[in-house]
Parts: sequence; structure tokens; C-alpha cells
Amino acid sequence: MADDVTVPPGVAKARAALKDVPHEPGAPKQDPILVADSVVRRFGGLTAVSVDHIEIQRGAITALIGPNGAGKTTFFNLLTGFDRPDEGDWKFNGKPLAGVAAHKVAKQGMVRTFQLTKALSRLTVIDNMRLGGTGQKGESFWKALIPGIWKKQEQEITERADELLARFKLDAKREDFAGSLSGGQRKLLEMARALMVQPDMVMLDEPMAGVNPALTQSLLGHVKSLREDGMTVLFVEHDMDMVRDISDWVIVMGQGKVIAEGTPDTVMADPRVIDAYLGSHHDGTEHDAAEVAAEVPGADAPSSSSVDAAPSSAEGAKSEGGKTDE
Ligand SMILES: Nc1ncnc2c1ncn2[C@@H]1O[C@H](COP(=O)(O)OP(=O)(O)OP(=O)(O)O)[C@@H](O)[C@H]1O
Ligand SMILES: [Mg+2]
Repeated sequence: MADDVTVPPGVAKARAALKDVPHEPGAPKQDPILVADSVVRRFGGLTAVSVDHIEIQRGAITALIGPNGAGKTTFFNLLTGFDRPDEGDWKFNGKPLAGVAAHKVAKQGMVRTFQLTKALSRLTVIDNMRLGGTGQKGESFWKALIPGIWKKQEQEITERADELLARFKLDAKREDFAGSLSGGQRKLLEMARALMVQPDMVMLDEPMAGVNPALTQSLLGHVKSLREDGMTVLFVEHDMDMVRDISDWVIVMGQGKVIAEGTPDTVMADPRVIDAYLGSHHDGTEHDAAEVAAEVPGADAPSSSSVDAAPSSAEGAKSEGGKTDE
């Protein structure tokens, strides 16, 4: 994107913060909201995640890409408390989060959505939203016993839910069962619900998977608006057009490790990245890398592309354990 006056302030700020960051795995950031060290997760003999060091720039949109099975969802699960690592430490807003349960992670301001949406289909849209808003503000047993406080909080939650439904254009669906929504609407609902906790950082696992093209632009717009609102976004995506369109920074995982980092253009032209997607077949010459680049969707062409858009539902279901995110 050209650096001209039409660049929105959130974009300009994020790009400026990342301007001098070296394009290398584990690169230090100017103002990281999340810093993780030596995070390892093994499943039997398989090391699904082995991340030495990673930093996520505050206020930026960072894409986490990599081939199927690279460990992206597992890494999300670990960071957000839905799974436990064999080793590793990480800090969010300067506070250690390793070993902290998912609902407490959300209270600290880090929320995620799922590769397979977890909207509760037998609840209405508004009830899904309200559920996303419970557990806030030190909600306690005692508070629950004092009707006045409870009622006020409930009212605030409903107001916030209605505001978000309007923002995501789901207000007309307020009383519908979540199960009756289209795939794209469910993704929107999940994003809206994640915002109920007023997070600092939103983690989206394949927000575009299964979304009807008619809703794509609106979803992209919503993700970008999170950055303009000062939030940090980390998202997993296979659609390279989307990655190129909205990310300030891209981190690439391969076989559990961070193998490359940089701006979208540099990363997608990086032979290590192309190798990871194609299974390390080229012999390392410039000539071959260029040839391979031409074959990787999105590596150098603005064509409509998806490196591998298979929803990989088996892995998703496996590693996400069918939980809801409250
Ligand atoms: N609960 C689990 N038990 C055993 N193996 C698992 C489990 N969860 C994930 N794996 C394995 O760990 C590896 C990483 O999986 P993960 O789902 O994190 O990859 P991913 O990068 O999200 O892939 P995709 O792009 O297909 O969603 C894969 O080999 C997967 O089969
Ligand atoms: Mg995944």
C-alpha cells in the first residue's frame, strides 16, 4: 500500500512501528503486546509446536500463516489457555499467562475465535452475545446475590451486545437461533461475541473459511476496524489475498516452528516459505525459487488464491476439543 494521506491512522501507526523490524524469525518488536518463549507442545511422538521466541506488535494486524498441520491452531490453543504446553512461558501486556485458564485469559483482554465456529446454535443470537459478556468485571458469587448490581450489569451487557450486533449488521437476526445463520454470519457473530469482553487483542482462527464471497468484504472491513479501534489482531488464514490485503506483518510457521517473518510481500517471496508450502523440493537456486514462486498461489500474483483452503475440520475438531470460549 502506498504511504499517502489516505492511509488510516491505525494502519500508519502499525506500519511505522514495524518499519525497522528485521525480517527474521523471532524478531523483536517496538512495543510487543505478547511475548512468548520456548513454547513446546507434543502429541505423543509428534512435536506440534516448538516456538523459540515470538513477539506480536501492539496495534498491528499480524497474520500467522503456514501449511496444514504447521501448528497454528495448536499455538492459538496454548496461548489462550485451551491447551497446556509441555514447556514455555509467555506474557501478555507484561503479565505471565502460561497455565492460566481460558476464561481468565479472556478477562485479561486476549480473546480468540475458532476455526470451526463455536456459536451455540440452540441459543438466539442475542443470548450468544450475552453469554460472551458474562464473567466480566470481577463478577462474583456475592455480586450475584445482590439483585441491584446483577441487574445493572445485565443491562450493560445487553446494551453492549445490541451495539455490537448493530455494528456487525446482525441486529435483524437478534432473536433468531444462531443455528439458522449462514456460515459467514456465524463468523461475524463469533467476532462480535469476542468483542463483548472489550479485549486488547483478538485472535482469529481462519475467519474467512467457509464464508460466502458476498460477506468477505464486510468481514475484512470489520477486522481492519479493530485495528483502527486500537486493538491488536493475530489471525490464521490460508487465503493469501486476504493476508496481503489486511496484514501489517506476517509470521510463518512450518512444522511447529517460526520459519519466517516480515511484511506480506517479502514473506510471500521468501524461498523458505515457498519451500514450506511445497514440501522443500527446490534445490535452492534463484532460478528454481522464482519458478516455484510462480506456482504458489498468491506468492507473486494478485490472483484469487488460497494456498490450501481445505477446512481441515478433523484437525480443528481434534485440537479444539469441542469447547466453547467462555
Ligand atoms: N489433540 C491432538 N492430538 C494429536 N495430534 C494433534 C492434536 N491437535 C493437533 N494435532 C496435530 O498437531 C499438528 C498441528 O496441528 P494444528 O491443528 O495446530 O495445525 P494447523 O497449522 O492449525 O493446520 P490447519 O492449517 O490445517 O488448520 C498436526 O499434525 C495435527 O494433526
Ligand atoms: Mg488450524
